[in-house]
Amino acid sequence: MIVLGIETSCDECSAAVVKDGHEIMSNVIATQIELHKPYQGVVPELASRLHTEWIQQVVEAALRQAGINKEDLDAVAVTSRPGLLGSLLVGVSFAKCYATALGIPFIGIDHIRAHLYASQIETPLEYPYLGVLVSGGHTVICRVEGYDKVEVLGTTIDDAIGEAFDKVAKFYDLGFPGGVVIDRLSQNGDPTAFLFPGPSLEGDEHRYDMSYSGLKTAVINQKERFRRPDAEDTPENLAASFQRQAVGILMKRVKLALKDTGLMRVSAGGGVAANSLLRSELKALEKQGYTVTFPSLKLCTDNGAMVAGLGCKYLEDGITSDQYLSASARVTAFKKS
Ligand code: KG4
Ligand code: ZN
Repeated sequence: MIVLGIETSCDECSAAVVKDGHEIMSNVIATQIELHKPYQGVVPELASRLHTEWIQQVVEAALRQAGINKEDLDAVAVTSRPGLLGSLLVGVSFAKCYATALGIPFIGIDHIRAHLYASQIETPLEYPYLGVLVSGGHTVICRVEGYDKVEVLGTTIDDAIGEAFDKVAKFYDLGFPGGVVIDRLSQNGDPTAFLFPGPSLEGDEHRYDMSYSGLKTAVINQKERFRRPDAEDTPENLAASFQRQAVGILMKRVKLALKDTGLMRVSAGGGVAANSLLRSELKALEKQGYTVTFPSLKLCTDNGAMVAGLGCKYLEDGITSDQYLSASARVTAFKKS
């Protein structure tokens, strides 16, 4: 079963070919990062225009690198929600036309479920497990029962973790995209130079919830207040101190959720799962007997392979989309029940 996956939800124009849900035959990612850099953030109109210009070539490159013809495809999977509406619409329209012309099914894919599936492509993990989805738009701790069965335990109540990385980096003009730059600067910084506060979320309904706007505000507006008197105010120290607390806020809830649920397996996904500190803190859980997986770096940030991989699973179960498939910027189902 060979599926073409298309991902255009934000600023990566990507197409991949995956066989049987696990064999990545190609994964082409045409990044728009350089073109958004002057604005230090993704410009939605520019993103959708570039997707329109690039998508055909990216898909052709994915087929070429996989060494197959389009007639060899069994289905086309495409991210249809959530994301930037104009960008999503480019992928969805392309996928529908392409699949219809080939006479094969198309499958609309939820971007968040695709991020959660990414680690399964390379390192299959038995269900159920604790899912940690951390990206520029989402911060979710969930119980994952199957590729399509996800129960949300906790989310951010304000900014997403990746958004906090990006906003701090933008404010201090550290570079774009923020997460990557802060991760790199942190390698040479003292994580205790600034002792930034964590959120105080009261009540049982917030047991696994997170908040990042307080941390972001402290780093941006009040850093002097939290600096250790003997520590230097350098970008490296600031980055390392912010990163320590950003990851700390998440890990505290992850550990609590693991303890409460009794789950012994945990898997991360999304752009922030590329963060070196988060990866080492999750990996450290293995010493306590947990099985931990996360995607390789290329599969953490947006990519077509996670979409194709998850598409294979739906196709195996006979689940495809109909002609009315459209794009949706928001997804309401990803809230706590
Ligand atoms: O999953 P993704 O590519 O797009 C969304 O679905 O949002 O995630 C992008 C986010 C951005 O906020 C970016 O700054 C962050 O992932 N990111 C990182 C790292 N690499 C990417 N954050 C922290 N450390 C990294 N190494
Ligand atoms: Zn993403």
